[in-house]
Amino acid sequence: MPVVSVINYKGGVGKTTLTANLGAELAFRGKKVLLIDLDPQASLTFSLVEPDYWRDKLAPNKTIKRWYDSLASGASLELSSLIFEPPKLKRALPVNGGLLHLIPSHLGLINVDLELATELGGGTLKQNKLKYLRVHRRLSEGLLESSFDRYDVILIDCPPNFNVVTKTAIVASQYVLIPAKPDYLSTMGIDFLITSLDELVANYNEYAELEDGGADVEKINPDILGVVFTMTQMYADRPIAAQRQYMNQTSSLGVQVFANYVRENKTLYGDAPREGVPVVMKPSAGMGKVIVSELEALVNEISNKLGI
Ligand SMILES: Nc1ncnc2c1ncn2[C@@H]1O[C@H](COP(=O)(O)OP(=O)(O)OP(=O)(O)O)[C@@H](O)[C@H]1O
Ligand SMILES: [Mg+2]
Repeated sequence: MPVVSVINYKGGVGKTTLTANLGAELAFRGKKVLLIDLDPQASLTFSLVEPDYWRDKLAPNKTIKRWYDSLASGASLELSSLIFEPPKLKRALPVNGGLLHLIPSHLGLINVDLELATELGGGTLKQNKLKYLRVHRRLSEGLLESSFDRYDVILIDCPPNFNVVTKTAIVASQYVLIPAKPDYLSTMGIDFLITSLDELVANYNEYAELEDGGADVEKINPDILGVVFTMTQMYADRPIAAQRQYMNQTSSLGVQVFANYVRENKTLYGDAPREGVPVVMKPSAGMGKVIVSELEALVNEISNKLGI
């Protein structure tokens, strides 16, 4: 059960769109997929669930916020109790064993980062390091539950920041997938992101060693699966020259870059969240067909790398 964080602290680069399409296509192929929405904007949740249904049935007690809240309150809760099956997507899937489940997000998750950061303060240096481990392991501990073994892959849609909740996703992940736009600031951002990831891993592993005498804390070593370029503008069947320049530059940073990318199409990608079914699963013709087959090729490349 590989756990993959879809992350980039730059906003609006297509993280949620990639998570939804990757998850849906894998489920369509018969895989058991769990999506976790860790973004207080809840874009992934609202791409799969009607807002009214979310407000009435999920928001009160079936969102990831409850999981983080229960750390502070000490209430006992199983993470698996927050799993929900979006009905519209279920109906769109063939009967081949594939499924797509979701742990929804909550707009109030925005306060959780602050609360967790407060938890980290006070106390001696040793106590602080132990607290650091406890807080950052919050999600990975939940995923230890045997109910999660049934999934072929777990995809975590991260918010556009590098706060504590995002760090809990990275600590829980074996892989990191980085969607990025092929432009100047995004390419620069990839370098910063990788530095931040390295720092988190180094800190966590240093503290994990400290606790060796007590609880058994495994070190982490999330693997960067690669950068997926999104919103590429095409001309004569290839990305425009200005974008190719940034794509090549990223490869020269030494980061793996996926050969397939996501083409820009405001009409298709703009409408899909309202319809509750990701682009890759919609019947399509013309340009839609091209876009779907490009997404399928990208999913082939990602699933090969994941070995699923
Ligand atoms: N390939 C694409 N072509 C055109 N528009 C796109 C494409 N992918 C995503 N979009 C649109 O761009 C916006 C941002 O996409 P998305 O929400 O996936 O990004 P994000 O990185 O998850 O954003 P955030 O950082 O806010 O979480 C959305 O309105 C989405 O519909
Ligand atoms: Mg998003």
